[in-house]
Amino acid sequence: MTSLELGRATLRSAAERTATAWNRANRFINNYTPKGLYARALLIIIMPMVVLQSVVAFVFMERHWNLVTQKLSAGVVADIAALIEVYREFPQDPGAAKLRKIAQDRLGLVIDFLPVGDLPPPGPKPFFSLLDQALSVELRKQVRRPFWIDTVGKSALVEIRIKLDNSVMRIFAPRSAAYASNSEIFLLWMVGTSLVLLTVAILFLRNQIRPILRLAQAAEAFGKGRDLPNFRPRGAREVRSAAIAFMEMKGRIERAIEQRTAMLAGVSHDLRTILTRFKLELALLGEGPEIDAMRRDVDEMGRMLEAYLAFARGDMGEQSAPTDMAAFLEELRTDADRTGHTASVEFHGHPIVTVKPAAFKRCLANLVSNAARHAHGIAITGHRDHRYLTVTVDDDGPGIPPAMREEVFKPFLRLDNARNQDQGGTGLGLAIARDIARSHGGDITLGDSPMGGLRASVRVPV
Ligand SMILES: Nc1ncnc2c1ncn2[C@@H]1O[C@H](COP(=O)(O)OP(=O)(O)OP(=O)(O)O)[C@@H](O)[C@H]1O
Ligand SMILES: [Mg+2]
Repeated sequence: MTSLELGRATLRSAAERTATAWNRANRFINNYTPKGLYARALLIIIMPMVVLQSVVAFVFMERHWNLVTQKLSAGVVADIAALIEVYREFPQDPGAAKLRKIAQDRLGLVIDFLPVGDLPPPGPKPFFSLLDQALSVELRKQVRRPFWIDTVGKSALVEIRIKLDNSVMRIFAPRSAAYASNSEIFLLWMVGTSLVLLTVAILFLRNQIRPILRLAQAAEAFGKGRDLPNFRPRGAREVRSAAIAFMEMKGRIERAIEQRTAMLAGVSHDLRTILTRFKLELALLGEGPEIDAMRRDVDEMGRMLEAYLAFARGDMGEQSAPTDMAAFLEELRTDADRTGHTASVEFHGHPIVTVKPAAFKRCLANLVSNAARHAHGIAITGHRDHRYLTVTVDDDGPGIPPAMREEVFKPFLRLDNARNQDQGGTGLGLAIARDIARSHGGDITLGDSPMGGLRASVRVPV
């Protein structure tokens, strides 16, 4: 391997690593961010707000709070330094009584003098030691003597001890004099106002998102072949125009279907009239083998015409209604039994499902009649969960080879042309069944049955 190739390989592997890391990050984000529009929109509002507040709070603490505390501490320490100076310059004051009175009245500092000795060991530093730090810095700068401070102990007072030449001066200063203690109020205000803002945002967002949800519901209902009455475009301009576009599309589809039905009604009427004339003319011709053959052909043509019209008509105009599926499957079983087949029926889950009853029955009946035509044993299973109704029809017949499982859905396609030409199938059964399943927003799939034959599964959303 040349060094160039080596370099390329390293580059490539680095690129691959970046790509996988990127993919993983994407997957992580996809898995852990909320899926709903509402939650996402809220997140988009909350995230910047939290970031903004954190930054503001940090800068505020860092700069303003620090500075104010520093200034306040410097003031207190300046007072203390002045007191020490006076104490040393005017030793004639007995017991420093005047000094203590002035300090108490004018500066708000309580001072007294302890006999000379060592300062106590330094106490534990508080976790958030802004005051401790500021005081220490100022004492070191302005007093330049050994000192000891306790900012933890009593909450309202800060204790400071300073070692003088012949005594130890003890000072109690109010904490508020040295520390910007009301700054917490700022944070409280910030959190409070952001909560108010958030509430307002939630209320507004809800109103903005509701029309989108309504539109999604309407589109879903239309996809399942159900009607959604009193749907009206609402909300923001974009949402409204999407809703209007959706309604126009729905109208166009419905008009196209109407046109198709009207045309079919016309065609079927015309053809039926001609077929009836044929039959009459044949009846007038009397008896004979050719005439019988012709009569059979005309009958066959009539049947095919009916089947074709049924297919082309689809499930036009039928309204969805809550239907008891368990009872439905039971009827199918009775029908199969009547033709001398052994059929078993099972149903799991809540049996009331909203479908177009007649169409859905035709769909299942087509599957069962196929099974009955090709096999002896039939098993019908229904299963309903919170999203789907699944009905499978199993049989123990010859099945359909995998390569043909999509082909057989094509109208007029029959695999068993040679096998049983005269059994009267038109090759429309599966096409009609799939059409109906799709008009419910679902589909039909074919597979291998554990019984040895074909398994046809209808799955529609509930
Ligand atoms: N359960 C099954 N077992 C084996 N082959 C099947 C089964 N169901 C369907 N087929 C094959 O698929 C073809 C198409 O079925 P389809 O139901 O569309 O038409 P058909 O049953 O022939 O006619 P029609 O249902 O209109 O009377 C059938 O001709 C048959 O060859
Ligand atoms: Mg069939």
